[in-house]
Amino acid sequence: MVTGILPEIYSVGIVDWDVRDFHGYNTARGATYNSYIVKGEKTALIDTVKAPFAGKFLENISKVVEPGAVDYVICNHAEPDHSGAMPVVMNAMPQATIVCTKKCQAILEAYYGGVGWKFRNIVTGDTLSLGGKTFTFVEIPMVHWPDSMVTLLAEGNVLFSNDAFGQHYTSTCRFDDENPLATVMEEAKVYYANIVNPYSKRVQQVLKTAGTLKIDMICPSHGVIWRSHIPEILRAYTNWAWNKPRAKALVIFDTMWNSTAMMAEAIMEGAVVVPGVNIKLINVRKSNNTIIATELLDSACAAFGSSTLNQQMLPTIAGTMSYVRGMSFMNRAGFAFGSCGWGKGGAEQLSDELNAMKWQILHEPIKSKYRPTDDVLAVCREAGKLLADKTRELADAGGYEPLVTD
Ligand code: FEO
Repeated sequence: MVTGILPEIYSVGIVDWDVRDFHGYNTARGATYNSYIVKGEKTALIDTVKAPFAGKFLENISKVVEPGAVDYVICNHAEPDHSGAMPVVMNAMPQATIVCTKKCQAILEAYYGGVGWKFRNIVTGDTLSLGGKTFTFVEIPMVHWPDSMVTLLAEGNVLFSNDAFGQHYTSTCRFDDENPLATVMEEAKVYYANIVNPYSKRVQQVLKTAGTLKIDMICPSHGVIWRSHIPEILRAYTNWAWNKPRAKALVIFDTMWNSTAMMAEAIMEGAVVVPGVNIKLINVRKSNNTIIATELLDSACAAFGSSTLNQQMLPTIAGTMSYVRGMSFMNRAGFAFGSCGWGKGGAEQLSDELNAMKWQILHEPIKSKYRPTDDVLAVCREAGKLLADKTRELADAGGYEPLVTD
């Protein structure tokens, strides 16, 4: 799709309506791989797209400029959703110089060889003039790969932010104000929780730098372009990067013969007596890891439960814990629970996982032999109240700033 977004600046990327699995991330609304052309006296292409769309992408480019007339290909990030089309693109524009970080060049060469490609490596503060259009580059290593950078265009104060501020959201309307804001903000949250969250400390630095710049438009490489709701997305990123939770807690579980489900219900019953705390019950078999990570992003606490199968937690929740641990949700509190028949298993392993994530443990693992007795359910209710009390405390201390879409 080709859309003019400002004078001599065009969006030429791809809308992938069908993708539902983005390396494990459930992209319920599809995805876009955004790319931009900026024309001055010279011409630059910013980022490319996934490999299967290379042909369509070249058609889009050709509607704006002859590929043979492109002078620079700015590569903000070498992950294949943005660089997969690079071999086809560079074959069509061998005269172009790839502008990127040194680490980006190394990754591009590892993926594609890059034989014969011309590179210009940049560091933070370097500029590139097209004649009438001037870029400044800022490295943002580990947001979210070592090579990552963003590109600022002085004319129009446009930030080409690559993955930052992205959303996996499809629409033929390219701007934030042409789409339902609540949906776009929700997808930005899903994106942050499932891609960006492990790098929140670095994001804090990026946001501090962004606060010193005049930015009138943010052109990410996924989803819509921000021009009318920049303060809203920056406020949301501030909440997420600084781990500011809502008064919200989760009870996440998997169950074999309903005993762990009974415990989860009892924990929720105990928690809801604390006013103003939102408790969500999530059966991992009825949900998915993308949703669970998104719910965790603005939750203060969570209890995790599993039945025991062959001295182990159930495989479904084991997969969820592996995913959640990788997403590095910090400064949280919770506890583990679960049923067993004999011996140790699910609850103990889940508690070990919470310890490994450096979560505050609010209660020793709560276990039930076969069916939970009234006494066990009473312990679950007490622990549920502890969970809600701690949620209230962390939310009050966290300073969550309400969003326009709340
Ligand atoms: Fe959208 Fe890190 O790639």
